[in-house]
Amino acid sequence: MEISKRNFNLVHIFFRPEYNYFKYHPMSEISEWMVQLAKHYPDIVTIVDYGKTYEFRTISMLKIGVDTGAKKKAIWMDCGIHAREWIAPAFCQYFASQILQTYKTDPKIGELITNMDFYITPVLNMDGYIYSWKDNTTRLWRKNRSPGPAGCNCSGTDLNRNFNANWGTIGVSFDCCRDVFCGIAPESEPEAQAVTYFVGTRKEDFLCFLTIHSYGQLLLVPYGHPNFTADNYKELMDVGKGAAEAMKKVHGKIYKVGTSPDILYPNSGSSRDWARFQEIPFSYTFELRDDGHYGFELPEDQIQPTCEEAYSGALHIITYAHNRVFNGAGPSTLPTFWTVLVVVGVTWIM
Ligand code: ARG
Ligand code: ZN
Repeated sequence: MEISKRNFNLVHIFFRPEYNYFKYHPMSEISEWMVQLAKHYPDIVTIVDYGKTYEFRTISMLKIGVDTGAKKKAIWMDCGIHAREWIAPAFCQYFASQILQTYKTDPKIGELITNMDFYITPVLNMDGYIYSWKDNTTRLWRKNRSPGPAGCNCSGTDLNRNFNANWGTIGVSFDCCRDVFCGIAPESEPEAQAVTYFVGTRKEDFLCFLTIHSYGQLLLVPYGHPNFTADNYKELMDVGKGAAEAMKKVHGKIYKVGTSPDILYPNSGSSRDWARFQEIPFSYTFELRDDGHYGFELPEDQIQPTCEEAYSGALHIITYAHNRVFNGAGPSTLPTFWTVLVVVGVTWIM
């Protein structure tokens, strides 16, 4: 029996099925989830469209923050730049839902979204993600879906080798059939352009740039090229180690902290390095679970623990960055002119 469109809507209004954060969702469900989230939290969530993929899909992110009217600092988080790393989009969705479920009862989260806006892209490489859902021969696709340069029979550019940060110098391939093909020029790909345009035009607002991958249980700091060292390397490492400690407390998993050449492999053209070159102070790549047993095909029963530990790691970094700027006390906790006036007035009346 077919249910009518009207009955279908009624079913959804009265028995809104809870979204299951602990399974993997195809792109269409993630897009619909974004729409529902923005409807459910109209005051603090908006959908921002900021680019097109090669296949002309609209790249959207969630902007989460209290509209204070003031100019705010910002946090960047993107997931799913690599198609096959399905745990990453699952984490972005979990992260957004957690801050939205807790900001009213947890004063710290309330303070974070009052002083800062969170820009969260659940799936940056939408074309690749959809392709990785097509069938089991495409499940391990990594790159985007743009055609190779003239004369090449393979498609896809590695978006995390395509950014303008020592582009094309190390840990890449110029063979368009390889997984680490860096493209024909820096930022040749529309998905990379979308990020660099949005972030680059308001880079002084961003305190953190967190880009979420799997796998390896690593927290990578800039830079991917062994000849470059971030001028705040020590602080990045200290904060990263604090995040790793926080993550270990959740389910006992150990995350290593370091530059990519030190603990994974040298690379160039990553978005993490690009963000640090833009003077965004706290730029990290998260490599989520696992350590290689399941690799990119992390079973669904590990989504919840992975998200829980990564949440505490990400919050550690974000809170540190926030407190450094806002001095651990949001403006709302300082007595304002008006509260002082009321207290003085009440004292006077009595
Ligand atoms: N997400 C990683 C990347 O961006 C892949 C890491 C998986 N490989 C590994 N040896 N842990 O390249
Ligand atoms: Zn990756």
